[in-house]
Order: sequence, then structure tokens, then C-alpha cells
Amino acid sequence: MPGSMGVVRLAAVCLCLVVAGGAHATDEHPTTFGSYKIVERQDQEECIEAKLDIQRGVLPDLGRDVNPLKLLVNASHPDTLHLKISPVVGGRWDIPDDYFLRPEGTSEAIEKVFGICLDESPFAITVHPLRGGYTSAPLFTTNKTQLVFKDQYMEVTSLIPKEASLYGAGEFTPSKGFRLQRNGKPIALWNRDMQAKFPDVNLYGSRPFVMSVLPDGTASGILLLNSNGMDIIPEKDRITWKAIGGVLDFYIFAGPTPADVMRQLTAVVGRPHLPPYWSLGFHNCKWGYKTVEEAEEVVRNYSRAGIPLDTMWTDIDYMDGNRDFSLDPVRYAEPKMKAFLDRLHAANQSWVPIIDAGIKVDPGYPAYDDGIASDVFVKDATGAPYIGQVWPGPTHFPDFGHQSTVDWWKRQIAAAHELSAFDGLWIDMDEVSNFCTGEVCELAPPGPSMTNCYLPCHNKLGPSNGSTGAALGDWWPSAKQNASLRSPPYAIHNGGDERLPLDTKTMPVTASNLDGTLQYDTHNIYGLAEAKATHEALVAIKQTRPFILTRSTFIGSGAYAAHWTGDNAATWDDLRWSIPGVFQSGVTGIPFVGPDICGFLGNTTEELCARWISVGAFYPFSRDHSDINGGYQELYRWEAVAGAARTALGLRYKMLPTLYTIFKHSRDTGAPIARPLFFGWPHDPITHTTDAQFLLGDSILVSPVLHEGANSVKAYFPQGKWYSAFDHSEVDASEGGKHVELSAPLGKIPVHILEGSVLPMGPPGTTTAAVRTGSLSLLVALNTSAMSYSTDKPGQDIATSRRLLHQQARAGPAVRDHSCPVPERSRAHACGSMFLDDGLQLQVTGAEGHVVKFAASLAAADANGMIQGAVDLSFALSDGPAACADV
Ligand code: GLC
Repeated sequence: MPGSMGVVRLAAVCLCLVVAGGAHATDEHPTTFGSYKIVERQDQEECIEAKLDIQRGVLPDLGRDVNPLKLLVNASHPDTLHLKISPVVGGRWDIPDDYFLRPEGTSEAIEKVFGICLDESPFAITVHPLRGGYTSAPLFTTNKTQLVFKDQYMEVTSLIPKEASLYGAGEFTPSKGFRLQRNGKPIALWNRDMQAKFPDVNLYGSRPFVMSVLPDGTASGILLLNSNGMDIIPEKDRITWKAIGGVLDFYIFAGPTPADVMRQLTAVVGRPHLPPYWSLGFHNCKWGYKTVEEAEEVVRNYSRAGIPLDTMWTDIDYMDGNRDFSLDPVRYAEPKMKAFLDRLHAANQSWVPIIDAGIKVDPGYPAYDDGIASDVFVKDATGAPYIGQVWPGPTHFPDFGHQSTVDWWKRQIAAAHELSAFDGLWIDMDEVSNFCTGEVCELAPPGPSMTNCYLPCHNKLGPSNGSTGAALGDWWPSAKQNASLRSPPYAIHNGGDERLPLDTKTMPVTASNLDGTLQYDTHNIYGLAEAKATHEALVAIKQTRPFILTRSTFIGSGAYAAHWTGDNAATWDDLRWSIPGVFQSGVTGIPFVGPDICGFLGNTTEELCARWISVGAFYPFSRDHSDINGGYQELYRWEAVAGAARTALGLRYKMLPTLYTIFKHSRDTGAPIARPLFFGWPHDPITHTTDAQFLLGDSILVSPVLHEGANSVKAYFPQGKWYSAFDHSEVDASEGGKHVELSAPLGKIPVHILEGSVLPMGPPGTTTAAVRTGSLSLLVALNTSAMSYSTDKPGQDIATSRRLLHQQARAGPAVRDHSCPVPERSRAHACGSMFLDDGLQLQVTGAEGHVVKFAASLAAADANGMIQGAVDLSFALSDGPAACADV
């Protein structure tokens, strides 16, 4: 029944044959469609259930057809159609729901927004947005395409209008721009430790989601919630998914704006987490700080140079023999570390160390001993813990999908925190990365920091009969299963056209988890499980919102962790690819993201590093990081870099109140933090391919120089009036978007603010704490149409705007911080201290039970129509519980 809790309603279901907008079978795609038919069907108010029977087997070389199948169609969340096809009989891997931190409050009545057409024989489904009626371009249609469901091969195609721009999928480094190439080249989803400097091949994460934006700006999205290896193949009139296991669990998001699609996606896979405030500051890291003294000297040098620095990082150098949770007894000896951390914390700065997924096989090492005693490691074919090799030499890999492992992990993290009070954690090598390939250790890894790397692995080679894995169903004889798992009938494009074996540089796919499931199925969610476990551990130990950085991701990882895009290189190409890389993460629900600034591999240059920090200061996650084999690249090492850093990071720090507001908005709605311009102007086709600039939130446009030797940048300004964030000079694109050549000598970064926006600003500072404790001011970019601004009558405009501000500044509706799992602790601030949305609509958000007082006094507008004023914002705390501890 509409309106009541938990009830979902579907729109009318029709039996019809709908031809997708402009999409027909072609020579490349002969009409071999239709391999199942509907033999039973039940239409209920909330869902459609049907049984599918094989009509015509196809592609016999790819194995046995699974028959019969069941189809479930329901509206699982607002504006979201859930479409699931799975076997009627037999277990098959299906990602457990508890991997996803779904927001509360999405179980209310679901809007009737879909029109669904089912063709019974051959089976096909077409989903229309009701707003457009049954003749509008469908959101999803399998009409005239084939459905294949085999033991190890599933294929579904949806026709997509040729004019649509597609985004997402990955993870890969996009060298051809953010918009997906609709050229039939498969995008493989199989997590692997492959340097991000190699573009267009599968990397560390898997995010099986694609957003589509039509020329009129209408957006929709399709998610295949499946963790098995797969290829996603965008072609000129269609998109095809080829997955090698699991079930077909599709979610179709109705949009109609890109922001709506993100809200709908993150309702299913989890909203992005709101990180602690300090993590919005600048981070410095390097692999190769040999001693704690060297690390501390770096912190001092940042301070001497007047360059903001909030967080110092330590790579594996700090560990004793690369063992997680340990300190090198000499170079990073415990007393020295404690003293260093005391000084760092006294200066309101933070420390984040790395931990890797692999645990050294080393009797006497507490994490290992406890891990063996608690039985937390993934098993080889004989049932013994699988042995791989990573930095410490032979290692076992924890099964983070199991609660006993999470409890063991918490114990290790708690002990490590006792040893050295870190503020956040960096989880790396979680694809999971292995220097061995599957069961056979062939490779000794390069690099100077490794010890004991050349020990052979002792894993037993399959076939085994020990597995109880659900990968292929119970009927499959285990020996045959093992061979087939290692070498499935369909080879996904792991590593591109090479189609590398799935075991390459990771655990064997036959390795079994503690509940008997196999890596074949769960490989792609290893990093998600580790991030989730680490999140749980940090919340328990520190009782504050945690900061975690992860390399490996799956769709949904954004609810637990930030992400960096992996091992890029210090090249101009890598700089250019960084923005599409940030977009790719953002539109797949992981908005707290940034690439290694100045480049990880190789040696950077003064010019490159200066340009990189100029843009990198505005990545949501802003960290300089370099490889042990490259030179030092801290921002103070070159004059031009230091100058560029002071300018760009200086603005980031002043904008922190705004940035934090953007993060909070992202947490509430799933919107990317650094977002493509089509989020603001989806109907403007130029924005569909603009990926050398980005928006921070709704109204801050960053237009960096990305080419060596250039002193200017040709920037695109979507419709509106834009003001420089630095000198408030105006760019007028109010008659429609336009390209403008902006002068940008080394050290300068063009950043513009859209008319009608009010940005809360902090004072200058070199730590987030300094900015946070200073007084706030507002930067108001006048909206000409809303405020009849004219340069002739500046006085009148200021008065108008002041009235407007006062009118709109109100104690906003109390916001309860549902997704923050941290118990009451700090009452210093309400969670999300200030929240601004959409132009001049200023909203002050207080925690429940808190009264918010707001007062603003505005100074005069400058010649360019920008008003700056002081804001006195105070929170009168009641005795009610604080909504969220803030740190
Ligand atoms: C991996 C990480 C890199 C780190 C290195 C050593 O290559 O991607 O960031 O510095 O391992 O831990």
C-alpha cells in the first residue's frame, strides 16, 4: 500500500514489444537473441516474480546453461528498480548485503516511476521512466539481445541510445577522457596491483556501475551488483556485461539528473563517509623516510616554509621487517616515536601509517600467532593457510569477510595504537597483491626494502576435494571445478588484450575463505572487506569518525574509506589523467579521492610539481607521495613549488568551512566532491566531455594548467557569471557557456566562484585546527538576476543581499547524524558546523537539541561584486546528545 513503511509499488506492467530508441540488431550483432522464455509469472503490487526456462541454448563452448532461472523485479529504493536473475535450484555466490552500509530511511513508500515491459518468449525486459511514457528512450532494455546464464558465463546487453554519454566503470586510468569510449573495447573488472601509470587496463578496484547522460541532460544509471570477474563492453548502441560467476543483480536508477542518480546509487551501495575534519587538510608522504628524525625534519621544513601541512604519513619504512603493527626497534624506536607523535599532536597535526594486507609468516610475531590461533587466514587447497609473498616475505592473507577475523584485526590495531597513537590508517596491497602468481611463486619482487623475499611458497597445488565453495553450485566435481576456476571458459580482459590468468599476482582463485566460499567469487571485494573491518576497528578504538585510505575498492567502499588512485608516475600525462581518475571514483560513490601529487614513480620536476600542487590542492584528498626509488618531492624543495603550494593550499585552507560543507553534502546525497561540469549543466553538451577542469561542490570551478611550458589555460565557463576566487575579477558567460583563455603563469591556479553562491571562509592557516578556531567570514558572489545587481548602485545591492542573507539564515531543521556510528563524545561542535546549499540559500545546521545562533555583518562589496563579511556563528549547546563526535 502506498505510503506505508516497507511497501514498494511498481508501476503498471505491460506485455509489449518495445523497440529501444534507435537501437536495432545490426550486422555486428545478429539476431541470436532470446535464450529463455517466461513459463510462470506472478505480478504483485510490490514485485514481479517469474520463472524462466531455457528456450534455446547458445554459445555451447562456454559451458552448461543454468536452467530454470527465477526473475525478481521490485522497486527496492526510491526511483530504483531492482532486477535480479538467479538459478531456481542450487547455491551460487551472491554478495552478502552487510558489505554495504546502506543509509537508513529508504524503506518508505517507493514512487511509481517505472514502466516495465516484459516479453515472454523470448524473454526480454524493458524499463521506461514513467515520466516519459512508454515511447521514451528506455532506461534499460534487453530487447533483441541475448540472455546467457551459464555456470561460469553470464551475458546481458542493454541497448542505450547512441547519443548518450557514458561514465563510470573501472577502475582504470582513463587516458582517453572521462567519457567512456563506446568502441567495443572491454573494460575488465578484476582487482589487481598494476601501476596506475599504465592507462586503460584494469587496476586496483571494481565498480560495476555506469551512468548515462543524454544530450538533453537526462541522466540514469545501471549497477550490476556482482563481485565476480567481468567485462563491461560499451558499444555504439549498447552496453554488455559478461560476468564469470555470481548472479545477475541489476539496479536501474531513474535519475533524472546526475545528482539524482548518485543519490539513488549510494542509497543501494552506501553513502560516502564523512571523514574527520583534519583529513581535509594537506598530507605529505614518501616511501623512504629512513628514520623518525628524517620524518620529523620534513614536518619542520613545511612549517619553516609556511606551507600548510596537517598530516605526516609513514610508509612501510617504519615497520620492523615489514611486519604490520610493529615499529623498527632502531630507526622508528618506540620512545622516539612517542615523543615525535606528542610533538606532532601538540601542533594539531596528525600521523597516518601504512598497513598491508599480508601478515608475515613468523612464529613469535604476535599478529601471526594470534591469527593462527584464531584461524583467520584464507586457506590453500589442503586447508592450510595460503602462503603468498609480499614485502615481508612469506605472508598469509586474513579473510576480512569473517567476524572472527574482524575481531582479530581489532586486537592488532588496538595494540598498534597503544604502541604509537596513529590518527588514521592507510591500507595498501589489498587487491589482494601477491608477488606470487596463484599457487606457484615465480617472481621475486624488486625493491630494496624487502627481506626474506626469496623463500619459496609451500602451497599445495590443486585439484582438491576440500572446497565447499558455492562458486559453481554443488553438482560440480571439485577437480574439474578447480581447473575450470583457474581457467574459466570465458577469459575476461584482465590486463587488456593479454587476458591474463585470474591468479596473476594475487591469491589463487581456488583459495577458500573461512566459510568455504572461494576467492574466485570474493576476490573483488577483498579491499572492501578490509576497509569495512578497519572502519569498525577504528570506530571501536578511537571513538571518533575514522580516516582510512584504501587502494583497492569495490562499489560501496566510499562508505568506509578514502581512496588514492595508486602508483601513477611523475609525468604530464599522469597529471592530465588525474582529473578523469578523480571523476571515475566520484561517480562510482567514492568521492574522497586524489592521485599522488607530483607523481609517485620516477623523478618529478619543479615545473610539473608546481603545476600538480596547484590543481592537487583542490583534489578532495590532497597528498604528495613518492616512491622509494625516486627523489624527494616535498613541496618546500623548490621555490616555484613552494610558492604554488602557498597560493593553492592557502585557498584550500581558507575554504575549509565550504569544503567541509561539500563533504557533508556528499555524505548526505552521494554527490561527488570534485565533480564533472555536467553535474551543474547537464544540458550543455560541452560539459559532457570537459575533464581538464572540475567543480568543487556546486559553485567552485578549478581550471588548471596541465601542459608543460604553458602559461595560460583555455577554460570553459558554463552559463553564469563567474568571479575569480583570488582577485574577484569577473568572467561573464551569462549568455551561454564560453571558452576563455586565462593567463596562468607558474604558481597561479585559476579558481572561480559562481554567481549566487555564499561561501563560508576561514582565516588563513597552515593547519585545519588553526582555520577552524579562527573567525568565519562569508564570501558572497552576487547573483545578478536574483539581486538586480548593477555596478551603478552598489550600495543598494549590498543592502539587498544583506536582507537576503538574514532572511535565509535560520536555524535549520535539526539534523540527526544517522550514519555516524560514533557515540556521544565531543560537544565542541555540531556535526557539519555549517551547511550551505544552492546559491544564496544559507542554512545553518545544528545537532539535535542544539540551538544555533547566527549573525552576519557584511562589509562593502568590492568593485567586482564580491561581498566579504564576518560571520559570528555560535552554538548554544543544550543538554541533548551531540549528534556526532568531531575531531
Ligand atoms: C605500493 C603503494 C605505494 C607504497 C608502496 C610501498 O606500491 O601503492 O603507495 O608507497 O606500495 O608501501
